[in-house]
Amino acid sequence: MIFEPQVPDWGEKLTFNKLNELIKYHTWLSTTGIKTGLISPKNEQFIWDEFIIHSLYFAKIITEMPNIVEEVSDLGTGGGIPGIPIGITTDIKVNLVDIKEKRVFELSRLLKILDQKNMFSLQEDAEDHIKNGGFFVSRCYISSENVINSIKKDKKTTYLVSSTGENIEYDNNLFHVKHEKFKINKNDIRHIDVINVK
Ligand SMILES: C[S@@+](CC[C@H](N)C(=O)[O-])C[C@H]1O[C@@H](n2cnc3c(N)ncnc32)[C@H](O)[C@@H]1O
Repeated sequence: MIFEPQVPDWGEKLTFNKLNELIKYHTWLSTTGIKTGLISPKNEQFIWDEFIIHSLYFAKIITEMPNIVEEVSDLGTGGGIPGIPIGITTDIKVNLVDIKEKRVFELSRLLKILDQKNMFSLQEDAEDHIKNGGFFVSRCYISSENVINSIKKDKKTTYLVSSTGENIEYDNNLFHVKHEKFKINKNDIRHIDVINVK
C-alpha cells in the first residue's frame, strides 16, 4: 500500500505550511519510533492517520478555545502523541510528559532533529504534573472516567482526552463535558472529550 499523507478538510488550515515538518515526524515515528519501542510496529498509513491526523484534532480544538491557550501538557506522551503534532502546527508551549526515562530521552533527541523550540520533554509522573492544574491533553493514557472520578479537580483545569465516544456520568456542578467527533480519513471516526472543571 502506498502511503498518502492525506489531511481531512478540517485540518487544512492547521497544516498548510506545516506538512513537511509533520512528514518528518512521521518518518521518525515509522523508523526510530518503532526501532526504539516508542510505538509498536504499524504501517505508514496507520501511523499517519491514527497518530498524526488524530493528534491534529487536539490542536484544532485548542486553537478554537474561547480563551487563548499558551501552554499544554501531554500526559503519557509516549512517542509524542498528540503533543508533537500540536507543537508543530501551533506556537503553543508543549510539555511532553512521560514517566519512562527511555521515552523522554528519545523525544529530546527528536526535538533537536525537528529544531522545535516550543516543545520540552519531561520525565515526570503525570499524577504529580497535574497537581498544579492547567491545560492537559492525553491520548490512550488517561480516560474521561479517570478525569471525572479520580483525578484532582482544580478549577480552571481543562482535559482533552481521546475517548470511545460513549456517554459518561458526571456531576454537572463540577464539570462541563463536550464530546467531539471527527473523521481521521475517509472512513474512520474518532472521539475526543473536552472536560472543563467548573
Ligand atoms: C498507551 S501509551 C500512549 C502513548 C501515546 N499518548 C499514544 O497515544 O500513542 C501510555 C504512555 O503513558 C506513559 N505512562 C504510564 N504511566 C505514566 C505516569 N504515571 N506518568 C506519566 N506517563 C505515564 C507510558 O510510559 C506510555 O508512554
